[in-house]
Amino acid sequence: MTTVERSVLGAGVDRVDGPVKASGAAPYSTDVSYPDLVHAALVRSTVAAGRIVAIDASRAEAVPGVLATVTHENALRVERTETGMWKQPPAPLQRDDVVHHGQYVAMVVAETFERATEAARLVEVTYEAAEPVIRLDDPRGPILENAYGTDETRGDTAAALAEAEVVLDARYTTPDETNNPMGLFATVAAWDEDRLTVHDATQWPDSARAALAGAFGVPEDNVRVLAPYVGGGFGAGLRVWPHVVLAAMAARMLERPVRLVLTRPQMFTGIGHRPATVQRIRLGARRDGTLTAIEHESLQPSAVDDDNIVEAVTAVSAVGYACPNVTTRDRVRRLNVPVPTSMRGPGDAQGHFALESALDELSYELGMDPLELRLQNYADEHPGLRLPWSSKALRRCFEVGAERFGWWRRDPRPGATRSGDTLIGYGLAGVTFFWFQQPCRARITIDHEGRAFVRAAATDIGTGTYTVMTQLAADRLGLRLDQVRTGLGDTELPAAPMQGGSGMTASLGSAVHDAAANLIDAFLDLVADDVASPLRGLRAADVVPADGRLHRRDDAGSGESYRDMLERHDRTDLTADGEAAPAKPEELGLAPAGPFAARFAEVHVDADLGRISVARLVSVVDAGRILNKKTARSQIIGGTVGGIGMALLEETVTDPGTGRIVNATLADYLIPVNADIPDLDVVFVGGPDRFNPVGVKGVGEIGLVGVAPAIANAVFHATGRRIRDLPITLDRLL
Ligand code: MOS
Repeated sequence: MTTVERSVLGAGVDRVDGPVKASGAAPYSTDVSYPDLVHAALVRSTVAAGRIVAIDASRAEAVPGVLATVTHENALRVERTETGMWKQPPAPLQRDDVVHHGQYVAMVVAETFERATEAARLVEVTYEAAEPVIRLDDPRGPILENAYGTDETRGDTAAALAEAEVVLDARYTTPDETNNPMGLFATVAAWDEDRLTVHDATQWPDSARAALAGAFGVPEDNVRVLAPYVGGGFGAGLRVWPHVVLAAMAARMLERPVRLVLTRPQMFTGIGHRPATVQRIRLGARRDGTLTAIEHESLQPSAVDDDNIVEAVTAVSAVGYACPNVTTRDRVRRLNVPVPTSMRGPGDAQGHFALESALDELSYELGMDPLELRLQNYADEHPGLRLPWSSKALRRCFEVGAERFGWWRRDPRPGATRSGDTLIGYGLAGVTFFWFQQPCRARITIDHEGRAFVRAAATDIGTGTYTVMTQLAADRLGLRLDQVRTGLGDTELPAAPMQGGSGMTASLGSAVHDAAANLIDAFLDLVADDVASPLRGLRAADVVPADGRLHRRDDAGSGESYRDMLERHDRTDLTADGEAAPAKPEELGLAPAGPFAARFAEVHVDADLGRISVARLVSVVDAGRILNKKTARSQIIGGTVGGIGMALLEETVTDPGTGRIVNATLADYLIPVNADIPDLDVVFVGGPDRFNPVGVKGVGEIGLVGVAPAIANAVFHATGRRIRDLPITLDRLL
C-alpha cells in the first residue's frame, strides 16, 4: 500500500518549476507589464548625513517623455508601518534629512525606462552635508544592548574563566556582505481606484501586503501582492523596502501602472546586507578538553533609525556545546549606513566563524584533535532548555564526515603536510543551526479528474518549495506527482509566513499535511451515508490513500477513487484548508532542533604566493527527513558556494570618509566562480525530526554556515597562520 509513498517522498525529483524557468515562461516581477505602463528611476544621495537644501529637476523634466519628478517636497505622504515580525524601513521621500549614502532622494517617472534613467541622472540635489558616523569603532554611534533579545547568561562565566586550567581569548571579525540575488529586485504597481496590485520580488507576500496597506491607508483586502517567481533572495526579500513603496506611490500619483527595477549598484544600498561583526570569544577548559566557560560578545552596525531584528550572532554559543557557564551578548551600533538585513544564515554564519575557529585554536592549546574536542563537549540535550532535542545526529555527522574525508590520515602538526610548493591543510567545523517554524495555512482542492491543487501565499525563491509541497501532497493523498500542482506567491491564497530562516518546509509542510488530512476527512464525509461506497462510515484512520484512491485499511482491495466519489455526488471538486503552528517545547517535552552539520575542508596554499584554493569540501547534514534528495542537495551546494565566498572573497567595502560603497557591482564585489569550486560532497544523515508532523528541519541556510571556519581552520593547519578576519585574502596570509 505504501509503494506510492516511497516513490514520491525522499527521491531526487526534478523541480516541477524547472521547465517554466528554463524556457523563460515563468513571470518574474521584472517581466510583468500593463497597457499604459510607465517607468520609474531613482536618484540616490551622494552624502551619508545631512540635509537636502535644494532639488533642481528642471533639466530632468526637459527630457522628452518625463511625466513627473517626485521628491520629499511633493511626494504622497505615506506611513511607516510595523508588520510581520518587524518595523519596516523608514518611508521614502518623506523628509529632507539624509542618514546614509545611497538613500533615495528623488524618483523620476517617464514613458520609457531609458528616459527615466537618463532624466534621473539630471536631477540636481544640493546638500548641507554633516559629518557621518561610519566606523563600527566610532564611539559617537549609539549602542543598543541585547539587540535581538537573545543574550543569555548561564552559571558563572567570570568565575569559571578565572579558575579555568586553559583560557583562550580571541577576537574575530567578519565584514559587511551583500546578498546579491541574481534577479534584480523589481516592483510593478497598479491602482484601480482604491485597490492596489503589486508584483514584487518578495520572500513574504503577506507582509508586503500589510506594509503597503498601512503605508497608503487602505484595508489589507484592497492590496494584492503577487510573487509567483523570485530570482533569489538570500534574505534581501524579507522586508518591504523603500522602492516597493515608491513604485506604488508613483502609480497612485500618476494614475498609471509603474514598473521600478533596481540597478545592481542600488541592490547594494536599498535591500539590506549582512552586517559586519567584531566578536570576542573567551573559552575556559580543563586540560582534558572539557569546556567550563564560553563568553561570546558581538558588535555589529545598524542603521540610524532602523533595526535588523534577526541577526543573533552569539546565540550559537549558548546551544552548540555542553557547557555549564555561558554568557552571550549581542550589541549593535547605529551608524550612517544603509539598513542591514538578514543574509543567508543570519547571525549564525558570523557566530559560527568565531566559535568554531576558537575551538580549533583551543584544540592546539590542549594538544587535542579538533574533532575529539567537539565530541568531548557534545550537547546530548539542549543546554539551555535542558530537554532532549527533537532530533540530533550531529555525532553521526562528525563520524560519517571524518570517514568520507579521511580526517584521521591528518598529520596534526601545522605546516607539516606539503606536496611540492603546495601546503595542504585539513580543517573542520560543527554546525548547530537555529530552529524556526511559523504558523501557516494551506488549501488543497481535488478536482473531478482526481487531480490535486495545493495553494498558499508562500513564495519559492529557488529553494524548491513548489517541488517538495507537490511531493508532500502527492504522498499524503496517494497521488502521482503529475496529478498534483502547487500554486504559490499570491496574497489571495491562504496566509503563509516568510520564506526565510530555513523554516518554510516545516511551516508550510505542516499546513499541507493538515490540509491533506482534512481533505481525506471531507471525502469520507461525502460518502458517510453512501450505500454505494465501500468507504461508507469510515474515518481517516480506517483508510489508506494510494493510486488516486482511498483504500480500506482492513481490505486493501476495497476502496474507491476520488474521481468516483465526486462524480457520484455531483461535485466538480472538493477543497479543504489546513493550518499548523509550531508546538510548544514544554508540551512536547522536546527542545525543537534545527539542522546540524559537520564540514570538512581541504585547502591548498601556494607556499610562496599565499594563493588559497579549496580542494575538497565534505558536508554531512542532519536536516531531519529529506523530502527530495536532489533539491536538498542543491540547497547545500548553493549554500556551500556562498560559504566559500564568505571565507575567501566577499566583502562590501565602504569608504570610511564618505560612507559610499566602493565595490557596488558584481565586477568589484567578488563571489566564487566555477573555477573556485571543487567537488562538493554532500551527505544527509539522521532520521525524521519529532517536532513537526512531516519530520523535516531546515535545509536552506545550513549549507553556508560553518564553511568559513572549516576553511580558516584548514588554512591554519596548512600554514600555521591563524586568520581571524574574513575574508581570508592573500594580503592577510602573506
Ligand atoms: Mo533567509 S536570511 O532567512 O532569507
